[in-house]
Amino acid sequence: MKIFHISDTHISDDKHFNKNALEKALRELNSGPYDIVIHSGDVTESGRLEQYRKAEKLFKGIDIPFVVIPGNHDKRSGGFSLYQEYIGEANGVKEGGDSVIIYVDTGVPDANIGRVGMSKFEMIRDNLHKYQKKSIKIVNVHHHILPVPRAGRERNVLSNAGDLLELFLKMDVDLVLSGHRHYPNVHKIEDTVIVNAGTVSGRKTRHGEANSYNVIEIDESEIKVTTQRMKSSREVNSFPRKESKVFYDFGEREFRIVQVSNTFISSLTESRLPNTTKFKHTHYTNAVDSINNIEADLVVHCGGIVEEGISRNYELADEYLSRIEPPIVYTPAGRDINYLGYHLFQEYFGNLDQSYAEDDIFLQGVSSAQYDSPVGIVGDTERKELFKKMNEREETFKGLFLHHNVVPIPHSREKGLLEDSGDILRKVVDENIDLVLTGTSSHPFAAKVGNTLVSNVNALSSVYQRSRYGNSFNLVDVYNNAIVISEINSLWGNRRLLGIWKRNNSND
Ligand SMILES: [Fe+2]
Ligand SMILES: [Fe+2]
Repeated sequence: MKIFHISDTHISDDKHFNKNALEKALRELNSGPYDIVIHSGDVTESGRLEQYRKAEKLFKGIDIPFVVIPGNHDKRSGGFSLYQEYIGEANGVKEGGDSVIIYVDTGVPDANIGRVGMSKFEMIRDNLHKYQKKSIKIVNVHHHILPVPRAGRERNVLSNAGDLLELFLKMDVDLVLSGHRHYPNVHKIEDTVIVNAGTVSGRKTRHGEANSYNVIEIDESEIKVTTQRMKSSREVNSFPRKESKVFYDFGEREFRIVQVSNTFISSLTESRLPNTTKFKHTHYTNAVDSINNIEADLVVHCGGIVEEGISRNYELADEYLSRIEPPIVYTPAGRDINYLGYHLFQEYFGNLDQSYAEDDIFLQGVSSAQYDSPVGIVGDTERKELFKKMNEREETFKGLFLHHNVVPIPHSREKGLLEDSGDILRKVVDENIDLVLTGTSSHPFAAKVGNTLVSNVNALSSVYQRSRYGNSFNLVDVYNNAIVISEINSLWGNRRLLGIWKRNNSND
């Protein structure tokens, strides 16, 4: 199957639209052979009648199957009804041979954010079930699922990207196509290739990027994505399809990391009012018992140590956390550095950016917290220093830990996502960092992006948690040939597997 993938045409009569670029791309398309054209939205610049008429005319020459969805720009000026009149259905399913394409409108009228409402979410899920046997399953959405680098603030992602991501991974979607950010980017998460197109003919390109389109070739053994820039440079990414997930020989266990977050320690006794604390005391004490009995080499606390950064909480946290026997490294959440927390954190627990090095493992913490804000950011300067530091290390297994999320987490909205998550994710994948541990959004999730395993942990002992399995911590077991991550319930100590992944340097 050979796909011609374009996005963000931004057709109009004004300076926003580069007609020559679109015509050039359409000429390339006609010199094909291609099986299908997929457009990931923002057909027009502002959803106006003359723009839709122009789009209709420009697309008339396409004589192979064409799948197109609206973007946020197409829903401006009340343009959605015109979209349906001139372009077609905004949602649907295109079936052909051994492939199926599910295309979904993620736009919200007069807004830049994306959303997939409940009925559309069910439509996607039902169709993925219905077409489960198809060997090529593709989803086309305008807004990106994984954060895109060099995009500035990651604020207008799909608000329920985490739920969609979980669904796509569970249902073995092969390819997710999107646009919107006007910056080409390709990731592979588990067995799903995520392709973000640049803009094919919009003038608003980012970072001096040229207009571009993608050529995607899928056969039994690989998915090959060629990003073709108008100024002739091209970039090719190839990914093997459906890697084997069956292992027989894990080898020896090299080390065991306990990953915790959101202990939310706070005083229980000083108030005469009914108990208003968010700290679950019994969950905490039981979890500490489990941690002390599983031969962990290290505990990584991904932030949310105290409920609020005030003295009496820190005093108590110091006492409570000293009951954990293995060594601990910490990284702060916003709440840890609030009020006097910025000083208290350092007084009781040490540096904001801590690290751990032992034998062949190196873990570096990076503070993503901001004073008086739940929003996370690493920032350009810190990111550069961080990767410089990582590159100087000789260890063969390298990891990062921070509070905020670098991928969207199921059953939460984007509020835990780091503002520069796109940059961090791109960098950890490009640098082959083995492991990233994060600790917000209060839901466990683990998935491999490129060669980087990303593990998020639920709250250990805070009332704010979203998992039906209850508060928990993660156990990250690194074997010679595999990494096994499981979740352990704080209160009861029962264990649930989150996944098994092959080690990057595995010789198995
Ligand atoms: Fe756009
Ligand atoms: Fe857009």
